[in-house]
Amino acid sequence: MTKTGPKTHLIILAAGNGTRMVSKKPKVMHDIAGLPLLGHVLKAAQALSINVTADMTVVLAPAMKDVADFATSVVDTVRIAYQREQLGTAHAVSCALEGLPLQDDDSVIVLFGDTPLIQTQTIAAVNELLLSSSPTGIVVVGMTPPDSNAYGRLVCDSTGKVLKIVEFKHANAAEKAITFCNSGIMAFQVSCLQKVLPDIKAQNANGEYYLTDAIEAAYKHGFEVQTLKVPFEEVEGVNTQQDLAQGEARYQKRRRLEFMDLGCTMVAPETVYLSHDTVIEPGVTLEPHLFFGPQVTLKSGVCVKAFSHIEGAVIEENATVGPFARLRPGTTIGKEARIGNFVEVKNSIFSVGAKANHLSYVGDATVGAKANIGAGTITCNYDGYFKHKTEIGEGAFIGSNSCLVAPVTIGKNAIIGAASTITKAVGDDELAVARAPQKAFAGKAKQIHETKLKLKKQRVA
Ligand code: UD1
Ligand code: MG
Repeated sequence: MTKTGPKTHLIILAAGNGTRMVSKKPKVMHDIAGLPLLGHVLKAAQALSINVTADMTVVLAPAMKDVADFATSVVDTVRIAYQREQLGTAHAVSCALEGLPLQDDDSVIVLFGDTPLIQTQTIAAVNELLLSSSPTGIVVVGMTPPDSNAYGRLVCDSTGKVLKIVEFKHANAAEKAITFCNSGIMAFQVSCLQKVLPDIKAQNANGEYYLTDAIEAAYKHGFEVQTLKVPFEEVEGVNTQQDLAQGEARYQKRRRLEFMDLGCTMVAPETVYLSHDTVIEPGVTLEPHLFFGPQVTLKSGVCVKAFSHIEGAVIEENATVGPFARLRPGTTIGKEARIGNFVEVKNSIFSVGAKANHLSYVGDATVGAKANIGAGTITCNYDGYFKHKTEIGEGAFIGSNSCLVAPVTIGKNAIIGAASTITKAVGDDELAVARAPQKAFAGKAKQIHETKLKLKKQRVA
């Protein structure tokens, strides 16, 4: 076989049961910012292949077919390896290596599906350290968690060289007191990994093969081990629902800081919830208490006012949305358009400068440039079976409290009288009024007041 130069094999371990999550869903399918944990790791790993020749394997349990589908939906070239029994992290790596074409000078980087905040630059740094400091056989990514918790301890000699890793549950008191911990991420030279894996024995306590035991085995074979320390925030593992919430908080904080650095003004950043795929251009202003679901793009000059809930929407330059607005999937809000309080928009397009400022539902509609939708307007888009379209021409004025019963078309510059129920097409420049004519009864109000007052007095007496 022709030699092709060193390659990086990324292995993502995700076959664990995740019992500590107390959930029916596999642990790695729990979301952070709307994307499963595994998706975050896949994306970080995939970005490495821009600069490095790499392939990617995800290790799953045989029952995790949905997870396999998800993984291939994120990275279509990903290889799936199945681990029949969850016999530990070292065993999972062995399963990944089966059938993988390896060369001695290749590197293998092990990532965990439950460590979602890992960044591409860290994976690259680990790889570089491994490749640049031969004869290093292993690089371990270490961190210092803020409080004493269940991570594996990196036991070092007086020079700081890591000698072995002891899992928290097997550690003695002195080892538990060590604050330098294993993040789980490790890089191996293939020649080293192939020597150490067969040396790893099952733990007496639980029969699992620990990848962490590779460190001691590496020394036996004359390989060096190096550590790379990274901030805990980047490599915090998710093992419980509390960890998941913590990971979400850390991810949100990271993204908010990134967007602020790119010129987004956030009045109260800690109250803005972003999705993993939110796009915010420079020059956007975000007021407090906002939720962004999947697939939202905010273009320059947009202002989103407090307490708005937005998903599946593109908001074009200088548009204003909120306060208390709800934008649902399929929505485009055009340049300089305005969506005000208690307005819900679904699968609709507002053209340049169009407005719906108060208390409306606009669904399956197109709204022409500078059209004005009055307070309380409802597009009646659903007949109980099918959805229908409403087309509102540019410059049209829809009077307050109107019902537009779809399918229906309102022409350019048309005017709809307030409280109309429109069931037929309205032409360009037409005025349409569709409500019961007003009747007047002179003196009738006075008579009603007098009768009622008399009745009230009788009842009180
Ligand atoms: C592991 C490390 C620990 C480290 C911590 C960091 C080992 C033995 N322990 O502990 O030193 O401080 O991560 O977060 O490596 N998995 C499989 N197959 C298995 C077992 C696990 O694929 O048979 C996967 C899991 O899905 C998970 C990852 O490996 O994504 C780590 O397993 P987990 O059980 O979470 O290990 P920790 O107890 O967190
Ligand atoms: Mg874990």
